[in-house]
Amino acid sequence: MKIIGTGSALPKKVLTNDMLSGIVETSDEWIRTRTGIRERRVLSDETLTDLALEAARKSVESAGVNASDIDYIMCHNVCNDAMTPSLAAMINKELGANCPTVDLNAACTGFIYALDMADSLMKTGKARNILIVCAEQPSHFVDWTQRETCVLFGDAVGAVVVTQSDDDCFFKMSTQYTDALYCSDAWHDTPFQKCKKENNFLYMRGRDVFRMAVTNCCKDIKYVFEKSGISSSEVSYFLLHQANLRILEAVRHEMNVAEDKFPMNLDKYGNTSSASIPLLMDELNKAGKLHRGDLLVLSAFGAGFTSGAGVIKW
Ligand code: COA
Repeated sequence: MKIIGTGSALPKKVLTNDMLSGIVETSDEWIRTRTGIRERRVLSDETLTDLALEAARKSVESAGVNASDIDYIMCHNVCNDAMTPSLAAMINKELGANCPTVDLNAACTGFIYALDMADSLMKTGKARNILIVCAEQPSHFVDWTQRETCVLFGDAVGAVVVTQSDDDCFFKMSTQYTDALYCSDAWHDTPFQKCKKENNFLYMRGRDVFRMAVTNCCKDIKYVFEKSGISSSEVSYFLLHQANLRILEAVRHEMNVAEDKFPMNLDKYGNTSSASIPLLMDELNKAGKLHRGDLLVLSAFGAGFTSGAGVIKW
């Protein structure tokens, strides 16, 4: 399987650290030094579905295929505009692809889960061209009175088209339970069951998440190297989930990788959950920095605690 097209879409509204200091007690200095984030985008006039469609169209165009050539659409989102139908079904309708659709949720690791599932569908001959759209709106489930979480995230969509090819790719996923990062849903009471009236904003114990993120990324990448027989020197880029500059730097140092192989854009967008890797990939693609045959190592982590890594040829 290989990636043949990329696309992304961002909300228009830019929210800088200084603007955030008018909402919660924080400062540009605190956010920058603890996370590396300077600004992020948040949805205001547009909807997530609008942006998902825009990114989907751009990735199909960049792949040089028609919507009718897409034979599976997978979306990843933690929080969609509608509980049902799925976002993938909405995109299918607007694109006119007329193919099977499904939404996944593996938190910020979602893009790697989607690639792994796409690879399996191709290997069983069930699909040839798959559109993957990672669309996230954390601004709708962080508590805007809690400085610990609301400063970290941003809304965005990243999309890719993957196609069947002889190029090998390899993915490794894992989940280990933690209550350090979760978000409850706001269900309604039924005549038979009362719902727990828990706070339904994102809950996070930052330091625990930080430790698990660094440990899992390093472990996953090492495992991928061992199983695929690829060495670090053969890799063109390490594309990691853009959560925090200090997490990324800790992984980079542990893996002994040069800075120029570790692209980052979290200063502009914050943590955009599963959209962060395809968004970064689209930026590199547009900048002409990806060349056919380049080996890309991907690694991500998120609530669950899910984590995953993989290697794929561009
Ligand atoms: N502005 C100012 N102060 C803040 C703040 C903010 N936005 N958020 C928290 N603080 C305060 C806390 O109230 C606490 O104050 P106290 O010491 O008086 O109790 C203090 O800062 C905590 O600081 P520190 O322990 O230095 O924070 P940290 O180095 O652990 O950094 C995170 C906090 C959240 C940035 C860091 O733990 C982290 O990045 N964790 C991973 C989060 C993540 O990636 N989540 C998503 C995973 S997909």
